[in-house]
Amino acid sequence: MNEQAVLVNLQGITKSFGNTTAVHPLDLTIAQGEFLAILGPSGCGKTTLLLMIGGFLRPTAGTIHIGGSDVTQLGPERRPTNMVFQGYGLFPHMTVAQNIAYGLRVSRTPQNEVRERVRAAMDLVHLEGFDDRKVSQLSGGQQQRVALARALIMRPDALLLDEPLAALDLKLRKAMQDELRRIHSSTGGTFVFVTHDQEEAMGLATRICVMEGGRIVQDGRPEEIYSAPNTRFVSTFIGEANVMAGRRAGGLVTLNAGVVFENEGQDELVVCVVRPEKMRIAATRDDPAFAEVHAILSGRLLDVVFLGPHVKYSIAVEGDSPLTVISSDMEMRNRLSIGDDVAVAWCLHDQRVLSDQ
Ligand SMILES: Nc1ncnc2c1ncn2[C@@H]1O[C@H](COP(=O)(O)OP(=O)(O)OP(=O)(O)O)[C@@H](O)[C@H]1O
Ligand SMILES: [Mg+2]
Repeated sequence: MNEQAVLVNLQGITKSFGNTTAVHPLDLTIAQGEFLAILGPSGCGKTTLLLMIGGFLRPTAGTIHIGGSDVTQLGPERRPTNMVFQGYGLFPHMTVAQNIAYGLRVSRTPQNEVRERVRAAMDLVHLEGFDDRKVSQLSGGQQQRVALARALIMRPDALLLDEPLAALDLKLRKAMQDELRRIHSSTGGTFVFVTHDQEEAMGLATRICVMEGGRIVQDGRPEEIYSAPNTRFVSTFIGEANVMAGRRAGGLVTLNAGVVFENEGQDELVVCVVRPEKMRIAATRDDPAFAEVHAILSGRLLDVVFLGPHVKYSIAVEGDSPLTVISSDMEMRNRLSIGDDVAVAWCLHDQRVLSDQ
C-alpha cells in the first residue's frame, strides 16, 4: 500500500449463497485515485465483491468502510460510489441526455445545474450532439459511453465498473480503454474495474488483484504480477508461461525435462516458470546466443508462427510438455525449420520456482 489516503477498506468481507461461498473472508484497501483491476476467471467472485462494495449485496460477514465511514449496512444510494453494470442497464425509451441526467433528477438537483453537468459529462465521454438520440438507436460503444457518463455525472468517490467493455469488439475495446485511462486521469477519481481479460487489466490498471475461487491470490502492480507470479495459477492466467515440472531435494531442483540447478527451499514438487520472451532458441547448444544463459535443453521444433514483430516457436522437449519461445530475432527464424533439432535456453534469474500445489 502506498502513502495515498485509503478510500475503501474491506475487513473480513465474505459472501455465501446457501452452501456456495462466492467470496471467502478477505481484507482489501483501495487508495484514493487508484485504478484497481479485479481480475479472475468466470465464477471466481468478482461481481459479488463489486456488488458488496457498491451496496447492492449485503456481505455475510465483515465490514466495509468508505472514506472512513462504516457503510456496511447502507444501500447503494447512500454510498459515495456508482456502478456501471455489464450490459449497461440503460433506459431504452429515454434519450441519451435523459439517461445521463437520471441520477441528478432523482436527487432533485436544480434544472440549470443538471443541464450544465449533463453537458460536461457528455463532453468527457465524447458524446457531444447525441442529446436527443434514444439509446436504442446507439451503437454498443456509444451505449457504453452513456453508461459511463451516467455514473460519472454523480461524481462518485469510487466508480465501480463490471466488465464494461466485454461486449465491444476488439478495436472499440482498445479505443474505450484509452478513453477510460484519460477519464481516470482527468477526473482524479478512484476506479475499481472488474475483468476476466488479463491484457485489459495489465493495460489499464495501476494495481491488480487476481482472484481465484473467491480469494485474492495476488495483489500488486501489473509488472510485479507479470514478472513475479506467486502461484502456478497466476503465472498461467496472466500472460503466457512455460511451466516445467520438477522436484526440489536438498537445495537442488531437477526438472523433468533434465535441467538441474541450485534452489533453496523445502523438499517438494515444484514448477519452474519462464516467460516465452525470456527463453531463447538456437540450432545448437553451443550457439553464441547462449553464452550468458544458465539452463539449456534440447528439443525438436514443432511449429513456427509469425506474429509481425515477433516469432513464436513451439518446441517439443523430452520429459515435459512443449515449450513456447517468443523471439524478435528474424535471422534465427530463417535458420530454423519445423522438425529440426534445436536448443532452448534461459537465464536462471528469469525463472520463478514455485511450490506445485
Ligand atoms: N445470487 C446468487 N445465488 C447463488 N449463487 C450465486 C449468486 N451470485 C453468484 N453466485 C455464485 O457465486 C460465485 C461467484 O459469482 P460471481 O458472479 O461473483 O462471479 P464472477 O467472477 O463475476 O464471474 P463472471 O466472470 O462469469 O462474471 C459463482 O459460483 C456463482 O455461481
Ligand atoms: Mg461477473
